[in-house]
Amino acid sequence: MAANWAPDSWTTAEARQLPDYPDAAALTRATDTLGTFPPLVFAGEARNLTAELAKVAEGEAFLLQGGDCAESFAEHSANNIRDTFRVILQMAVVLTYASKLPVVKLGRMAGQFAKPRSAPNETIDGVELPSYRGDNVNDIAFTAESRIPDPQRMIRAYSQSAATLNLLRAFAQGGYANLHQVHRWTHDFMGRSPWSKKYAETADRIGEALEFMAACGIDPETVPQLAQTHFYTSHEALLLPFEQALTRQDSLTGDWYDTSAHFLWIGDRTRFEGSAHVEFLRGIGNPIGVKCGPSLDPDALLRMLDTLNPGRIPGRMTLITRYGFDKIESALPRLVRAVTREGHPVVWSCDPMHGNTVKAVTGYKTRPFDRILAEVRGFFAVHRAEGTHAGGIHAEMTGQNVTECTGGAIDVTEQSLADRYHTHCDPRLNAGQSLELAFLLAEMLNAEMAERKKVAA
Ligand code: PEP
Ligand code: CO
Repeated sequence: MAANWAPDSWTTAEARQLPDYPDAAALTRATDTLGTFPPLVFAGEARNLTAELAKVAEGEAFLLQGGDCAESFAEHSANNIRDTFRVILQMAVVLTYASKLPVVKLGRMAGQFAKPRSAPNETIDGVELPSYRGDNVNDIAFTAESRIPDPQRMIRAYSQSAATLNLLRAFAQGGYANLHQVHRWTHDFMGRSPWSKKYAETADRIGEALEFMAACGIDPETVPQLAQTHFYTSHEALLLPFEQALTRQDSLTGDWYDTSAHFLWIGDRTRFEGSAHVEFLRGIGNPIGVKCGPSLDPDALLRMLDTLNPGRIPGRMTLITRYGFDKIESALPRLVRAVTREGHPVVWSCDPMHGNTVKAVTGYKTRPFDRILAEVRGFFAVHRAEGTHAGGIHAEMTGQNVTECTGGAIDVTEQSLADRYHTHCDPRLNAGQSLELAFLLAEMLNAEMAERKKVAA
């Protein structure tokens, strides 16, 4: 257990990006209520995830983390949850087949509401209002009333997270994750896409492997694991009053866990030294992530790792790098070398989204798909050169056919962004772009595995 730590010890440290609630009594009422609600996840599940991530850190598994930039009250529906879950599973099948490694599936779902912002205020047509900070804080509508932080929104976010998690658990365990079914979806989807030729071979080989297994008597009826999966949840632990209210002492071990999700991460804007967010996350037993962007120097990262993982527990720390396609290859090696030299066990994961946001001529925030792929390639190239495992991917994505990131085989143009631009914050990959990313990752992982075999031989 962390020394000199309590669920509220963050309150004495510098907290950035937290809302100023105008009514302190209303905030206390809301967090008191949350404190009486049941945990959303169980500490034992968080420990299982740490164990799975330890395998990733050792190079024996791959992490796939994805979902909305910001979940919203308006877009909450069974279909949205199902479609994102389905695409994550499809990606996982492709990755598992290519790498022959287990894939740890982690949704940016069931709690990913609060958003850090680059400016506290937003100005439209000369009117300046506080920025939107996520549906658990204020309302996206551009009116003074909507932008006032309302603590009751945390209660609604809790309920939505509980409902989402309930459905995810049902999908993961109730037969929806059946491997044959997931493959059939990919196959159907490929059939309709202009890039089917390019990836048909991989998809066909997965199909053949499944048929071969079935002929040997290995199918979802005989091996129930083929019809089920483990699926974990995660979000940025930004809104600390909410996270604190859901932090509970595990009755088995006496350790503290943030029971709002299995995995929590610290954003690039709140990971500075002395930050309240680092202080909070240091004391919880969950596996945790840190976003690593251009302003993080290797020594600061090492100090942070000593603070967050003094016991050097494998699987506890995931470093999510997000540099931009043109910076990754020059910036990442320094971090990798420092962490390797000090012997910190970490999962290296690539967020190819947050360093590649641009403004389209039409005014929309977008991300060119070829830059996203370029950052992924750069990430793999660095790890190949350093002899470390390119352990994971962190993507903002949805199962819906949105038009938010430009490019991809079914080309989204700057002009077509307006057609289905639904995100409440950053632009997400749509279902087709997500699968395309998975096929690229599959190629990269395949190459990493081939290289390993060569070295071992
Ligand atoms: C995010 O993941 O939505 C985010 C804000 O990322 P970062 O902290 O890396 O900017
Ligand atoms: Co984002």
